[in-house]
Amino acid sequence: MLDKKGRTIDYLRVSLTDRCNLRCIYCMPEEGVDKKCHQDIMRFEQIEKIITACAAIGIKKVRFTGGEPLILKGIDKLIAHTASMPSIKDISLTTNGMLLSDMAEDLKKAGLRRVNISLDTLNADKFREVTRLGDINKVMSAIDKCMSLDMVPVKINTVLMKGVNDDEIGDFINLTKEYPIQIRFIELMPIGEGYKYFDKCSMKVEEILERFPELVQIKDDSKVASVYKMPGAKGSVGLISPISCKFCSECNRIRLTSVGTIKPCLHSSEEINLLPYVDDQEKLIETITNAVYNKPEEHHLETDKKSHSEKMMYQVGG
Ligand code: GTP
Ligand code: 5AD
Ligand code: SF4
Repeated sequence: MLDKKGRTIDYLRVSLTDRCNLRCIYCMPEEGVDKKCHQDIMRFEQIEKIITACAAIGIKKVRFTGGEPLILKGIDKLIAHTASMPSIKDISLTTNGMLLSDMAEDLKKAGLRRVNISLDTLNADKFREVTRLGDINKVMSAIDKCMSLDMVPVKINTVLMKGVNDDEIGDFINLTKEYPIQIRFIELMPIGEGYKYFDKCSMKVEEILERFPELVQIKDDSKVASVYKMPGAKGSVGLISPISCKFCSECNRIRLTSVGTIKPCLHSSEEINLLPYVDDQEKLIETITNAVYNKPEEHHLETDKKSHSEKMMYQVGG
């Protein structure tokens, strides 16, 4: 459906949990977060009802995120149920990859088409420092596994941080020469823990184009990434610049948080609670329709320097 600014909203991002098996420095505090009570987290059957209502108003693409979505048992069944909805054409997953290698085959069978995997460094020790709990070998095997299952292109999300991983940009780009992956460099956003690192570590993705003039822009239907290629490369390089070149005017997405609220914009404080209506499809559809229609026009991170979102990245899923 169209929102009041005339944007087509056809993409739903579903955060299944705010819990995670990693503690990335720009996302989660070291001690983790308070566990939500069981009744505050949506059950899969409630999520299915909400996705059904969203499909009825024109959602065609669903992405499952977290926290870390793969720590939940039964996600393959949720994917299979979503895949059985005729109007849903694309199901994808954003994950840190730690548990993916063993699960990828079942998820693909259930109907998962694509995965975006977070990987901020190629160095094992640095990976441990950035994620605090991660093991890079598990993530690398997951990437290999997804390529072998032909879930291509596997997209790799790399949050750019000056002084942390800006020395590895060339190494990441070199991987695209050999593998059918898309490395996406994401500008750090001043949201949650990211706010603490923003002044010191943020850098613009344009710097990459200055350093690597061989990158040639290619056509791609992504709403958030501008996509480039090295000459002769099998993969590509995506630049995601929510700060320096925001994509709000083309935004096609709404978000469902793990506690059952619709968040029409990542950086706005506005949220609409759907839980009271999950058993009433008509009311559910009406509430979601209103939320979509009134989606905020844009964020103002470039001047506000801080997100207005009351939810953290691990509660919204990026
Ligand atoms: P595909 O294009 O379908 O592969 O997915 P995607 O790029 O939407 O998904 P992904 O979860 O990989 O998102 C990549 C990153 O883009 C996120 O981690 C966020 O940092 C950023 N992002 C995604 N959606 C938004 C948005 O609506 N606003 C802003 N400011 N940033 C976003
Ligand atoms: N700024 C930019 N990206 C972030 N992510 C998490 N926190 C931030 C932030 N403050 C990214 C993760 C993951 C995706 C879901 O969101 O690295 O790739
Ligand atoms: Fe977990 Fe993703 Fe946040 Fe890292 S960025 S702590 S993997 S939710």
